[in-house]
Formats: sequence, structure tokens, C-alpha cells
Amino acid sequence: MRKQIVAGNWKMNNDLAQTEALLSDLKKQNQSSNAEVMVAPTFTNLYHAFEALRTSNIEVVAQNMHFAANGAYTGEISASMLKSVGVETVILGHSERREYFNETDELLAKKVDAALANSMRIIFCFGEELADRKSGNEEAVVGGQIKNALFHLEAAAFQNIVLAYEPVWAIGTGETASPEQAQDMHAFIRKTLADKYGNNIADEVSILYGGSVKPANAEEIFSKPDVDGGLIGGASLNAEDFYAIVNAF
Ligand code: 13P
Repeated sequence: MRKQIVAGNWKMNNDLAQTEALLSDLKKQNQSSNAEVMVAPTFTNLYHAFEALRTSNIEVVAQNMHFAANGAYTGEISASMLKSVGVETVILGHSERREYFNETDELLAKKVDAALANSMRIIFCFGEELADRKSGNEEAVVGGQIKNALFHLEAAAFQNIVLAYEPVWAIGTGETASPEQAQDMHAFIRKTLADKYGNNIADEVSILYGGSVKPANAEEIFSKPDVDGGLIGGASLNAEDFYAIVNAF
């Protein structure tokens, strides 16, 4: 049975005081849930969040990492540094990293390898831009992003990979993919995996949807058979909204 997951990507939001307030609100909301719950604060608040959520069932994950183990990469953070503060999972390939920091499929393949070599779990993000969807190229773009960054891996690696489909046109715009659009793309993603690695692997990989998921639309999106959860941006900054989404399962 593949896992259901709801992860909050806080992006570049919340200083220490704001992080403390949100963590405390989350702990008040924190009940048993059908989904695995994760939050991704900024690097500077990871250790604090890990300590604060130690006794909860919320996992603290990172938003990014560098592929190298250490060395002259000013401003970067390595897998072992993340692990040393309790972080076992990292988001890689977010569209904002691709767009604003020029992260290519080739670079992401290196990051994926580094995370796996450090026994970390990966939430691997990808998704088409509006122009791709308008021209009917969304499957070609998404298929290419997955193949270029992941298809050099052995099948066993997929035990530690969660996929997150985030259409760029739906991120932070208030416009979501319709539940049918999400389901169609998730089914395509699963078929892409099955064609390469077989049905057993494809059936076990969780595929999350991200892009303007809110309490009002989560249940319908999560009800689709190939949607195994969500990667939540804006709505994850409010504990009540975030848990309304978690409890949509
Ligand atoms: P929003 O939920 O704010 O659209 O952001 C989605 C996202 O980018 C999560 O990684």
C-alpha cells in the first residue's frame, strides 16, 4: 500500500519567532491522521523545528540541498548537514528552484544521487508551465523531467522517492488543476514509471499534487485514485488550514 502524505512547504517564510508560533499551533492541531504529515521550514529553523516536533508525528523536511558532501560551495547545505540536525527527507526540483536558481534536470540528478547515497528520502517535484499545457505538451514535459532526473536509478531507489506533480501555473495563483486534470497527469506519471520499472514499483510510489491546494478543494483532489496526497504552499502557513487539508483524507 503506498503512503498518503501531506507536506507543507513553507518556502522563504517565517523567521524564528514566527516558526515557533506556527510549530506551537501545529502541535495543538496534531492528532492522529491517515496521512503522513511533514513540514519544510527554512534551513535556519530546521533544527529548532526538529526539536520542537520531536514528540509529535510531524516530520521535519528540508526544501533543498547541495549535491556535494562538503567543500567550497559558499551558501550551500549538504545532505550530511541536514541529517545531523534530524532531517531525513529533502524536497528537490521545486519549480521555484528550477526557475529562479537555474536548477536543471542534470543538476537535479546529481542531487538525487547525493540524497540517496546519504539514505535520505526525496520528494521530487516537477510540473509543466502554462505554455506547455496550452500547447498540449504537458505530458512530454513532465515525462522528460522525470526521465532525465530519475531514470538512471535502480528500481530499489524508488522506495525512497515520493513524486510531487506541481503544475507551475497552479502554484500560488489560486488556480488549481481540476481533480480530473490532476488524476490524468498522475495516471500518466504512474504509467511512465510502470513502463520503465514495472507495475509493482509504480504502484508503490506516492504521487502528491501541489498547486493552490486549500481546505475547500483538498478532499476532491485527494479522492482521485492516483493522487496520494499534497504538497502545500500558502495554506501550510496556517495550522488550522493545514490540518483541514491533512484531515481531508
Ligand atoms: P501553493 O499551495 O501556495 O500554490 O504552493 C504550492 C507549492 O509550490 C508547494 O511546494
